[in-house]
Amino acid sequence: MLLNIGLWLLIGLVVLWALLDPVSRLVKVLWEILLPIVNSTSVDVKSKFGEWAVVTGSTDGIGKAYAKELASRGLNLVLISRTLERLEKTKDEILKSHPDIEVKIIVADFSKGREVFEKIETELKDIPIGILVNNVGAQYSYPMYLGEVPENELWDIINVNVGATTLMTRLVIGQMQKRRKGAIVNISSGSEIQPLPLMTVYAATKVYVKSFSEALRAEYTKFGITVQQLAPLFVNTKMNAFSQRLQVSSLFVPDATTYARNAIVTLGKVDSSTGYWAHGIQYFFALIPPVWIRTKIGQFLNESLREDYFKQKTT
Ligand SMILES: NC(=O)c1ccc[n+]([C@@H]2O[C@H](COP(=O)([O-])OP(=O)(O)OC[C@H]3O[C@@H](n4cnc5c(N)ncnc54)[C@H](OP(=O)(O)O)[C@@H]3O)[C@@H](O)[C@H]2O)c1
Repeated sequence: MLLNIGLWLLIGLVVLWALLDPVSRLVKVLWEILLPIVNSTSVDVKSKFGEWAVVTGSTDGIGKAYAKELASRGLNLVLISRTLERLEKTKDEILKSHPDIEVKIIVADFSKGREVFEKIETELKDIPIGILVNNVGAQYSYPMYLGEVPENELWDIINVNVGATTLMTRLVIGQMQKRRKGAIVNISSGSEIQPLPLMTVYAATKVYVKSFSEALRAEYTKFGITVQQLAPLFVNTKMNAFSQRLQVSSLFVPDATTYARNAIVTLGKVDSSTGYWAHGIQYFFALIPPVWIRTKIGQFLNESLREDYFKQKTT
């Protein structure tokens, strides 16, 4: 009798243990979907984290839109991208709507790797940085088999997605630690939730960003630093120019402004998020099948986006 009870108890515990991880992940995603409804007011990010924000990759797409959201909350900005002309244009555009803030620009091409950080460090030396948005990212020009991806493109993806996120964080985290406040926002991608054939290296770099963010949070929460990881799904930006289908904004493929407006409201409230409630819903369903099925679905989707690219090329 006692042996029977013990056996059933053991089986119950094993089942509970097996269910705990997926259930807690689903609850987390559900909470993310409900958060904007339950609590839609933004944290006062300027007082909570500091007066200056650095945004990498800020002349276009999500980075530019996020920078505008920070500007509208009164934060001074440091914009970093490759092209001086586009940086100046973005700076002017932001100052026109927010003349009370300061905007500094730094030209840096993160694909060059190590050499750019010395210059950035010098330029940021006397700026008390409250928020760093590691937004810059590089992606394949279209879904490809690994052997087809030009070697340069692979180095760019690794240097930008892994290198810039890591080294930019190292650059600012010391001063945040001294002030015992600050936020690091790392933009990864929904592609991190399973291997993604035909975007193999891109997705793998985003898994790095996720792991990096989680470990960094464990290291630095005690110093008053918030580390948030944002994992958007498709957003209508030039990164997805390989498919016309992704260049049309919709509920599930928002434009960058809609995405950033939603994402910034999660800062200071949740550690990780897709950043956008409709992506949260997609994420919720995406997490239900086992990884091998998700990988197959991802491969199927990328095969069809690859076809889009070839069709577009011939028309
Ligand atoms: N769009 C999506 O569907 C999607 C989905 C999931 C995750 N994400 C992630 O979200 C982030 C932003 O993506 P996005 O779609 O907004 O990109 P985007 O529209 O292509 O914009 C990229 C920005 O980064 C700058 N940039 C590109 N390469 C650079 C380099 N080597 N050095 C410095 N700056 C560089 C670009 O400006 P210049 O060309 O002037 O330098 C531009 O301002 C990325 O990390 C991406 O992986 C995007």
